[in-house]
Amino acid sequence: MYQSWEELEKNCLCCEKCQLREGRTQVVFGVGNRHARVLFIGEGPGEQEDLQGKPFVGRSGQYLDKQLAAVGLSRDKDVYIANIVKCRPPQNRDPLPEEQDACITWLRAQTAFLRPKIIVCLGRIAAMKIIRPDFKITKEHGVFFEKGGVLMMATLHPAALLRNPASKPGAFEDYLRLREKMEQLGLVAPETFPDAPCP
Ligand code: URA
Repeated sequence: MYQSWEELEKNCLCCEKCQLREGRTQVVFGVGNRHARVLFIGEGPGEQEDLQGKPFVGRSGQYLDKQLAAVGLSRDKDVYIANIVKCRPPQNRDPLPEEQDACITWLRAQTAFLRPKIIVCLGRIAAMKIIRPDFKITKEHGVFFEKGGVLMMATLHPAALLRNPASKPGAFEDYLRLREKMEQLGLVAPETFPDAPCP
């Protein structure tokens, strides 16, 4: 067991647990507010994330920031962001089950420190790992599930939304629901977004 975030991060940054270590530039640990009670979980680092050492800093990350901003949230203040796997899979392929299993201990330790009240899974891979193996992202996005005292919801991955802009309004509803849930739990002050445009 780790005594602090710093100790956890230091150990994670030199992880040798799976083959993804071979292709990485650096381990992508996580970013955001370590005191936030909302945890966003993506799939794994892409090219920019691998180079910069931070999750969601490429094109999909920029769109994620827009989605958060549209409901008055920011990655630095209101959420913490991490991935299922901390090292970039070759050619951005889906992380293999054994890579996910090797890496999930880091995410579990992050979750133990954060004690989130809400977990938001970004995309199918995270939803299948965190919520249910047979999770159907197209049907079940935006729905809150309770698991072990934590509310969990999945939304479409921002990269999928950039590929298929027709899905953006539906995904934006998920962010409005998230905002509403955060207000109900007292995590943010009530604020209305009557004409919030879908980014
Ligand atoms: N996609 C992800 O799932 N995670 C990142 O950090 C970047 C892109």
